[in-house]
Amino acid sequence: MRHFTSVFDLPDLANALKMACEIKSNPFGFQHLGKNKTMVLIFFNSSLRTRLSTQKAAMNLGMNTMVLNVNQDGWRMESELGVIMDGDKPEHLREAIPVIGRFCDIIGVRAFANFESREDDYAEKILNQFIQLSGVPVVSMEAATRHPLQSFADLLTIEEYKTKPRPKVVLSWAPHPKVLPQAVPNSFVEWMRQTDYEFVVTHPKGYELSPMFMGDLKVEYDQDRAFESADFIYAKNWSSYTEYGEILSKDMSWTVTTEKMALTDHARFMHCLPVRRNMIVTDEVLDGPSSIVVDEAENRVYSAQTVLKMILEG
Ligand code: CP
Repeated sequence: MRHFTSVFDLPDLANALKMACEIKSNPFGFQHLGKNKTMVLIFFNSSLRTRLSTQKAAMNLGMNTMVLNVNQDGWRMESELGVIMDGDKPEHLREAIPVIGRFCDIIGVRAFANFESREDDYAEKILNQFIQLSGVPVVSMEAATRHPLQSFADLLTIEEYKTKPRPKVVLSWAPHPKVLPQAVPNSFVEWMRQTDYEFVVTHPKGYELSPMFMGDLKVEYDQDRAFESADFIYAKNWSSYTEYGEILSKDMSWTVTTEKMALTDHARFMHCLPVRRNMIVTDEVLDGPSSIVVDEAENRVYSAQTVLKMILEG
C-alpha cells in the first residue's frame, strides 16, 4: 500500500482488522520498521485525537515525527493555481509539498472541506496535491470527504464489542450549532458497506449524503424506528450535501437520549469525538455504561499503526 485515503486502499480489510488486533496486543513489536524514518503530520485544521494517536502510532513503530500546524506555525499557504500572490499567503503548496517530502518518509495530512465549493471539496484538491507532489506516501488524517483512520478505528471497536456475528449498526444524524463536514459520515458509510452488518442510516429530510457514498442504501427517516433492536448507535452531525454546507435543522428531538437508547437492544453508543454534550447526546448516555467513545478513541492508535506498518512494509 502506498497511500491511504479510503478503505479501498487497503489490500484486504479482514486482514487489516486482524493486523490491528495483533498490533494492539503487541504495540512495540514492529519498531525495526520505523528506525531512522520520519513522519511529518500537517494540520490545516484543529485536532486532538488524530494528532496524538497518529504520532503515538508512528512512535510505536520506531519512527520520528514532526508536526506542522499550517497557518499557525508556518507560512499561510496558497492552494489555487494561477493566482497573483499579493495577499496574506506567502507560500504556495506547489513548492511547500515537495519540500516537505524531502524531509520525511511519510506525510499525514488533515485538510477539511472549506465549503466554498462542493465541487472543489469533493475533488479533494489539497489531499491530491500532496499525493501528486510530495514524492512520498500520504495518509489522510481527515480530508474534505473522508476520515478513514476514524472509520477503521470505529470498525475495530465494533468488532471488539459485538455480541452477534451480524450486529445492527445505526448511523444517526444529531443536532449541532456549527456547519460540519460530511467526511465522518461519508467514511463511516463507506466502511460499513464493506461489512455484512445490518446497517441503517437515519437523518432528517434534506441531510441525504452523496450518492457516491450511499449507493443503493436506503435512509430510514424515522429515528425511533431506526433505533429499534440496534446493537450500536453511531451519532454524528453533518451539514447538508444537497444544499451544500447549510444547516437545515437543529431539531433537538434527534439528540440521543436514554429514552432513545431504550428502543435499542442494549446498544453501545459511539461518536468520533469531540462531541457537543446535550446537543448530539445527553450527559446521561455519554457518562453511562453504554458509551464506548473512549475505547473508540484509543483504537485510533491501532488503526493508524496498522496503516503506517503496511506503508513501511511497502
Ligand atoms: N475524531 C477526531 O478526528 O478527533 P480530532 O478532530 O480531535 O482529531
